[in-house]
Amino acid sequence: MKSISRKNFLYSSVLGMGILSVPDLLYQVLANSKDIEFSKRYPKEFAEGEGITDSILKILLFGITAPNSHNTQPWKIKIESPNSFYLYADKERQLLPIDPINRQLYHSMGTFLEFLEIGAREWGIQLKISLFPKGIDSMEKTGTLPVAKIELQPKSNLEKDPLAKYIPLRQMNRKKYEGEFLTDENYRFILESSGIRTTKLVYSSEKKQFNSLIEILIESFKKEIESYEKNEISRVWFRLSEKDIYSKRDGITLEGNGLTNPVLWLARNFFVSLSPKDWNSTSALKQSLDTFKDQVYSSKGFLFLVTEGKDDHITWVNTGRDFSRICLSIPANGFVFHTMNQAFVDYPESLEFQTQIRNLLNLKPEAKIQLGGRLGKADLSFFSPRRDLKEVIF
Ligand SMILES: Cc1cc2nc3c(=O)[nH]c(=O)nc-3n(C[C@H](O)[C@H](O)[C@H](O)COP(=O)(O)O)c2cc1C
Repeated sequence: MKSISRKNFLYSSVLGMGILSVPDLLYQVLANSKDIEFSKRYPKEFAEGEGITDSILKILLFGITAPNSHNTQPWKIKIESPNSFYLYADKERQLLPIDPINRQLYHSMGTFLEFLEIGAREWGIQLKISLFPKGIDSMEKTGTLPVAKIELQPKSNLEKDPLAKYIPLRQMNRKKYEGEFLTDENYRFILESSGIRTTKLVYSSEKKQFNSLIEILIESFKKEIESYEKNEISRVWFRLSEKDIYSKRDGITLEGNGLTNPVLWLARNFFVSLSPKDWNSTSALKQSLDTFKDQVYSSKGFLFLVTEGKDDHITWVNTGRDFSRICLSIPANGFVFHTMNQAFVDYPESLEFQTQIRNLLNLKPEAKIQLGGRLGKADLSFFSPRRDLKEVIF
C-alpha cells in the first residue's frame, strides 16, 4: 500500500492531466475522477507526485479526506505563516434544519483535525492544536472566530500513527452488509486499535436489542425524510450526474449510497430527479426509506460514541476526533462502517429516539449519544470526492 504511485493508480485509459496555467501547485486542476480518488486515498503519495513541498498544503491534503456531515467539507483555512494556520467553520455549509445547534458541524471540525494530525505525523511534523483560541462563535456568528489554531513543528523520530495506513480503505460504506455478526472480541479490538480519548464506545451485540434498535433507526430516518424542510437538505447536497459530482466535488451521491450499475445507470437516467416536487414525492420517499431499510436490516453490528458530562463545542470537536479514529480502526479490523445519525440530532422530533436508544442500551440518563452507526463486511464502495485545496483556503 505504501509504495503506490499515482501512475500505478491511474489504471483508467484517460489521464488527461492538464497543463498548469498557474505555477503554484495549489492551483492545479485535477483532471479526472481517478486523480480525485487518488488524492483522497493517498494524500502523501499525491503530494509527492505533484511535487508539493509546502508543509501546510501537505498536511491539509490529509485533513480534507476526513469524514464529514453530508460531505459538505465545512472547513475554511486561513494561513498565518509558513508554520501556522487557522481552521474556521464555513457558515455557508451549515445544515441547520437537521443540525440546528451545529453539533455535527463541530464534529466535522474534529474529524478534520484528527486526519490533519495523523497526516502531519506521516510527514514528521508535530502539531500544536489550540481549540477556540479567540473564543466560541454564537450560532448567528458561526464561522467568525477560528475553531482552532494549528502550529507546525518539524520533529525527527516522531512516531507515526498506526491508523494512517487505513486511510486508503476508509469510507462510509452504505452497501448491504454480509458476514457474521460482530463478536465482543471484534468490538474490543476496534476499541483497542482506535485509541479514542474523549468518548466511550458502546456497542450492541444482543440479538434481541438489535431488532429494537433497527426499528428505532428506521423510525428516526422516516421522521426526518417526512419533514419537507429536512428532506430538502439531502436534495440540495445531492450530486446526481458524474459532471456534477466531479465539478462540485462535494455532497452525496447515488454511488455513495451503495448503488452500482446497471441499477445506478437506471436510477440516474430515469428514476431520480432533483426537482423539489419529485424529490419529496410519496414514491421518492418510499424508495429512500426502502433503501435505508435494506441497509440497516443487513447490519452485523452497531456502535455508538457516547459522552457523559459536558456537552459543549469542545466536546463536539473532540468527539469528531474520536469518530475519525473509530472510522479508521474499523477497516483496520476488516470491517466497514456506515454512520446513521437521524436518532442523535438536535431537532425536537429526534430527541425521543435518542431517549429510546439510550434506554435500550442501559445508558445513564445524562449520557449523550453523539454519533452511531452500523458495521459489517462489504466490498469497497465509491470514494466520495473532495474539493481542491484552493476552495478551502481563503
Ligand atoms: C458528524 C457526521 C454525521 C454524519 N451523519 C451521517 C448520516 O446520518 N448518514 C450517513 O449516511 N452518513 C453520515 N455521515 C457520513 C458522511 O456523509 C460522509 O463522511 C461523507 O459523505 C464523506 O464520505 P466519506 O466518509 O466516504 O469520505 C456523517 C459524517 C459525520 C462526520
